[in-house]
Amino acid sequence: MIKEYIEQNKDRFLNELFDLLRIPSISADKDFLADVNKAAEFIKTKMIEAGADHVEVCATAGNPIVYGEKIINKSLPTVLVYGHYDVQPAVPLELWDSPPFEPTIRKTKIHPNGAIFARGSCDDKGQMYMHLKAFEMMMKTNTLPCNIKFMIEGEEEVGSTNLGIFCINNKERLKADVVLISDTSMIANDTPSIDTGLRGLSYVEVEVTGPNRDLHSGVYGGAVANPINVLAKMIASMHDENNHITIPGFYDKVIELSAQERSDLNLAPFDIEAYKKDLEISDVWGEKGFTVYEKTGVRPTLDCNGIWGGYIGEGAKTVLPSKAFAKISMRLVPNQVSDEITDLFKKHFENSAPAGIKVVVKPHHGGEPVVTPTDSIAYKSAAKAMETTFGKKPIPTRGGGSIPIVALFEKELGLKSVLMGFGLDSDALHSPNEHYGIENYYKGIETIPYFFKYFAEMSK
Ligand code: BES
Ligand code: MN
Ligand code: MN
Repeated sequence: MIKEYIEQNKDRFLNELFDLLRIPSISADKDFLADVNKAAEFIKTKMIEAGADHVEVCATAGNPIVYGEKIINKSLPTVLVYGHYDVQPAVPLELWDSPPFEPTIRKTKIHPNGAIFARGSCDDKGQMYMHLKAFEMMMKTNTLPCNIKFMIEGEEEVGSTNLGIFCINNKERLKADVVLISDTSMIANDTPSIDTGLRGLSYVEVEVTGPNRDLHSGVYGGAVANPINVLAKMIASMHDENNHITIPGFYDKVIELSAQERSDLNLAPFDIEAYKKDLEISDVWGEKGFTVYEKTGVRPTLDCNGIWGGYIGEGAKTVLPSKAFAKISMRLVPNQVSDEITDLFKKHFENSAPAGIKVVVKPHHGGEPVVTPTDSIAYKSAAKAMETTFGKKPIPTRGGGSIPIVALFEKELGLKSVLMGFGLDSDALHSPNEHYGIENYYKGIETIPYFFKYFAEMSK
């Protein structure tokens, strides 16, 4: 019945997603505020059409949250579906092969039946919209087996600050048994997996100041510290020869995995040659003694995300700049605490500035790491649902990205999450040419109702 419904509504399911993808709901850029609101209204309309009750675009101090629910019987379990309609900025536009907000289908090696190219196609509009369509299908076919609540936010890509407040203020309304989220990746289209953890995040911006004004690099160069040179050295010195992070105390709270946990983690198939080929790199990098899965799943990192200063226009301008800047992210693992790591960074950065240089560290948003259980009814339901539609048991993995609100669901609502994602790491999320496999989209719509079915059955 599920397959039939999808078959009959295939084109409409795709066209609706395309309409949503055409709205440039970029949360990081205030110029797109009208589009952010438009996307929220679009979701509200579709949620109502699908059959949800009490659908509301909830205003916050930032971007709105779309809430809706279908309570069929108070004695049945309740699933809270979370997703986000905001997207990352699409720049640099010139690197896209088709415009980011004009969804286009193209075949790729990994998606031979076609992928939808558009900003947000995978992260997270495409994955979030699968839940609305799966819900519609369960409503239309009278097969919704438990209660459902939707909470779709518009600030995930900028730290979910207002969603945190919304959760604290709406504890009663958000009561549920589990949170279901599709905003992560699988290992491959023929190797389903479920993330059982996410890394936390500490994000800072640094400003390094030398002289009070830009100087002639010949007249003053050699006698005055150059903030760009200094910043480059300071960043470089934050990794030692083993690519271990040198900030004092950085690893103090890191939980080291047991030998058994490490070997379990590395059981998942990994083709290092394909990985290198895909990225056109001749070798991987990282902390000595750890595999790629360990490096991205259970080890913390420090990466410069952006760096600027001085003259970057055409030709040469001989100038010793007054200032240099960088944005730096640190991915955190259990039990590191975002604010503590930010403080450690700040102290270290301030202490390591040479004489003649002033530094300022500005903290941005952060988030805590999470680990989700694999022995819960919810995890087992998701695993069985994926096994039903993929014909293979999903492998538990640890995701390298962050969804800061997941830790907050646990802390404020007492709810564990299941991260049943259908994207692939190679779908270019946050990059030019982001895409989402059409098959992945339909597979998600097909799998979600099984999650509800098994979750209702196992909850009995
Ligand atoms: N959906 C991603 C996170 C993700 C992607 C987790 C793939 C696991 C696998 C999410 O939208 C995201 O990009 N989060 C940000 C954090 C946020 C605070 C900006 C991230 O990880 O950079
Ligand atoms: Mn996302
Ligand atoms: Mn994202």
